[in-house]
Amino acid sequence: MKVLGLVGSPRERNTKTLVTLALAECKKLGLETELVHLGKMDIAPCVDCERCRKEGRCAIDDDFQAVADKLEQADGVIIGSPVYFGCVSAQIKAFMDRTRYLRRNERLKDKVGGALATGGSRNGGQELVIRQIHNFFLIQGMLVVGDEKTMHFGGASYGDAAKDAEGQETSRNLGRHVAQVVLKLAK
Ligand SMILES: Cc1cc2nc3c(=O)[nH]c(=O)nc-3n(C[C@H](O)[C@H](O)[C@H](O)COP(=O)(O)O)c2cc1C
Repeated sequence: MKVLGLVGSPRERNTKTLVTLALAECKKLGLETELVHLGKMDIAPCVDCERCRKEGRCAIDDDFQAVADKLEQADGVIIGSPVYFGCVSAQIKAFMDRTRYLRRNERLKDKVGGALATGGSRNGGQELVIRQIHNFFLIQGMLVVGDEKTMHFGGASYGDAAKDAEGQETSRNLGRHVAQVVLKLAK
């Protein structure tokens, strides 16, 4: 059983801190984990060329396919994004749009998904970003999981995530819940 963590920031900072914490909880419960720093990769936006409809995969040749293949093989995924103007980062959006062929073939159906967001302000749009990632999970037919009794929707921090104890707790709780549901589904 494996959980994949995607970091949607181009920097090695707050989002990576939280995704790392969430994955550590999955590891504690015995799951294999892998962190992919998506925000540092070369992933172009979808151009709606429709070639994926015929070819069953994306026709653009960049770093996308390797990550999409990992996603297809994972049982759970934790996607983390910084808040950029109340939205997910462009890097995360480009990745989500490119997975259209996976939805068409129901290749992510019933996988477990958790979302987290980091912002510069306390209420800078973290919930909006988490819900945008949830939309992606739902449209892919995935099972959306939150952090239960802390923030409810997922992981969320503001400012320096390394100093935001509450943000760290929401992310650990998210990771643990994702792992618990993955394990439950495997029974
Ligand atoms: C283009 C841009 C837009 C941003 N917009 C917001 C915003 O709407 N709300 C917010 O709280 N922070 C905003 N921020 C701040 C980042 O979300 C924040 O610094 C975040 O923790 C960065 O994550 P990282 O350290 O993983 O890169 C913005 C930053 C950038 C670069």
